[in-house]
Amino acid sequence: MRRTAPLRRMVAGTRLHPAELILPLFVKEGIAEPNPVSSMPGVLQHTRDSLRKAAHEAAEAGVGGLILFGIPAHKDARGSAADDPDGIVQVALADLAAEVGDALVLIADTCLDEYTDHGHCGLLTASGEVDNDATLERYAAAAVAQARAGAQVIAPSGMMDGQVAAIRAALDGDGFAEIPILAYSAKFASGYYGPFREAAECAPQFGDRNAYQQDPAGPIRESLREVELDLAEGADAVMVKPALAYLDVLRQIRDLVDVPVAAYQVSGEYAMVEAAAANGWIDRERVIMESLIAIRRAGADLILTYWATEIARRLA
Ligand code: PBG
Repeated sequence: MRRTAPLRRMVAGTRLHPAELILPLFVKEGIAEPNPVSSMPGVLQHTRDSLRKAAHEAAEAGVGGLILFGIPAHKDARGSAADDPDGIVQVALADLAAEVGDALVLIADTCLDEYTDHGHCGLLTASGEVDNDATLERYAAAAVAQARAGAQVIAPSGMMDGQVAAIRAALDGDGFAEIPILAYSAKFASGYYGPFREAAECAPQFGDRNAYQQDPAGPIRESLREVELDLAEGADAVMVKPALAYLDVLRQIRDLVDVPVAAYQVSGEYAMVEAAAANGWIDRERVIMESLIAIRRAGADLILTYWATEIARRLA
């Protein structure tokens, strides 16, 4: 049954579709030209104009959704730009809503690390620890600002306890009861985020994220519990992140829940393939497709990938 290409195609158990792909995009305030991210060849920090163009291309290719990250010109301790109606993410979301809001799904990543001067995902206590409960109010305000600007799905990525409940209540209270929450439920403290921290200019200025993101060596039960808590708080879909190094976690979550499960093929996964391919060490197209198939086979209904537009075109 594997002798010819049509035979293999007929019996393939795992298929990819452009609508299941979500493209992460970066928009930066105050730049005149798009800015290449050196550790992610092919990925740009966009201007508002180039962002519109990239979104348009993704929609044309049939990509299912976009997730937007913003880099503000000014950062402070409380991440004020995160919920400023004139903040870069809010104005860019409004641009995208006008440009492609009917063609694909506009997802807003809700967190503070791109907006805080210390680079942590939450507010800090006097002793420099992340203050979980105080941060929830900031997430709630950011989510409402994003929804007002045109976000169609809110995706909290900060791994604070209670973040889904806080955001759900705030959205409901502001007339956005219909906006779904895609929760980054099982998000690991990962070395694979390195290039993203260049792209989003959000590396922690001291310490690390080990106290709020999951330990790679921690028990899988902990991820399942995070998922169960997020669903109890009102999450409509859940996410595992990174993807390739956590396929076992992905599979167990897929078997546990009946909501859509997303997997985030993160910046380091992208960078490793691009770097090896640039050296001629691997077959780029083949490895990209193989990694996406693996993520799909492990149970992902949705895949966030920086290759979304390219792959959607290839699948067409
Ligand atoms: C936090 C956030 C991160 C990523 C997405 N959202 C970085 C982090 O937790 O340090 C990483 C995505 C990637 O590496 O591609 N707002």
